[in-house]
Amino acid sequence: VRPLSIPLQGKVALITGASGGIGFTTARALAATGARLSLIARTPAKLTRARDQLLDAGFPPDQVIAIPTDMSDPDAAARAVSATQDQLGGIDILINAAGGAHLKPFHELPIAAIAEDVGANLMATLYTTRHALPALIASQGHIINVVSGLGKRGASSAAAFAAAKFGVQGFTESLRLDVARFGVRVTALSPAGAGVNTAFWDTADPKIRRDQMLAPERIAELILIILTTRANALIDDVTIRTS
Ligand SMILES: NC(=O)c1ccc[n+]([C@@H]2O[C@H](COP(=O)([O-])OP(=O)(O)OC[C@H]3O[C@@H](n4cnc5c(N)ncnc54)[C@H](OP(=O)(O)O)[C@@H]3O)[C@@H](O)[C@H]2O)c1
Repeated sequence: VRPLSIPLQGKVALITGASGGIGFTTARALAATGARLSLIARTPAKLTRARDQLLDAGFPPDQVIAIPTDMSDPDAAARAVSATQDQLGGIDILINAAGGAHLKPFHELPIAAIAEDVGANLMATLYTTRHALPALIASQGHIINVVSGLGKRGASSAAAFAAAKFGVQGFTESLRLDVARFGVRVTALSPAGAGVNTAFWDTADPKIRRDQMLAPERIAELILIILTTRANALIDDVTIRTS
C-alpha cells in the first residue's frame, strides 16, 4: 500500500462558507496543495480578511479569489459560480461548507432563524451545486457536502437545523446516484458528537463548553483524504466525532 498522492495542484476548488471555521481551514489546506480557490461567504470584510490571510501566508494573489455572496439567493449563487469559472477557468472541487444554526426549542425559534438555517445549510447547497454541476461534469469533479450528525438523528433544540441537514443528507445520497454516470464523485461529511470549535457556536449556543470539540483542522485533513482517494474508490459518507 502506497500513501495517496493524487495531485490537487492546479485544481479549482469553490468553497462556500470560506471565511471561517471549516471552510477557511479547508481553504488553507487546499491552497498548500497548489489548488486554486474561489472563496465564498456573505460578509465582504470577513471574506477579504480570509483571502488576505492566505496571501500573507505566501500564496499568490491569482491563486485565490474571493466572491462575497449569499448563496441562499439562487441568482446571486449563479453569478458567483460563473464568476469563478470566468476567473479560474472551471471547477474541479466543490465544498459546500456554508451554514449556521440557531439552537432553541422550536416553539421559541423566530421565523427569520428558521429561514436562515434552511437557507444557509440546505438551499445554498442545492443552488450552488446545481449551478456548478455543468462545470463539475466537464471536469469529472468531486463535491463534498458538510452535513452534520443532526442530518441523521434529530435532537431537542435543533429542529430547524436538523430539518435542513436531513435535507442535505438526502440530497447528497440522491445526487451521488444522478451524477455517478458522469464520473462526478459526491461525499457527505458529517461532524458529529461534541462538534467542531468554530464561530458556528457563537450563534448556535454561546454558552456551550468547547474544550471537547474537534479542531476544524481535523475536518480539513479528512477533506484532503477524501479528495485524494484514488478514483476507483469513493469515501461516500463519513462521520467524524471526538474519540
Ligand atoms: N461547528 C460545528 O460543530 C458543526 C457541526 C456540524 C456541522 N457543521 C456545519 O459545518 C459547516 C461549516 O460550519 P463552521 O462550523 O465552519 O461555521 P462558521 O465558522 O460559522 O462558518 C460558516 C461559514 O458560512 C458562511 N455562510 C453562512 N451563511 C452563508 C450563506 N447564506 N451564503 C454563503 N456563506 C454563508 C459564513 O460567513 P458569512 O456569515 O459571512 O456568510 C462562514 O464563512 C456548516 O454547514 C455547519 O452547519 C458545523
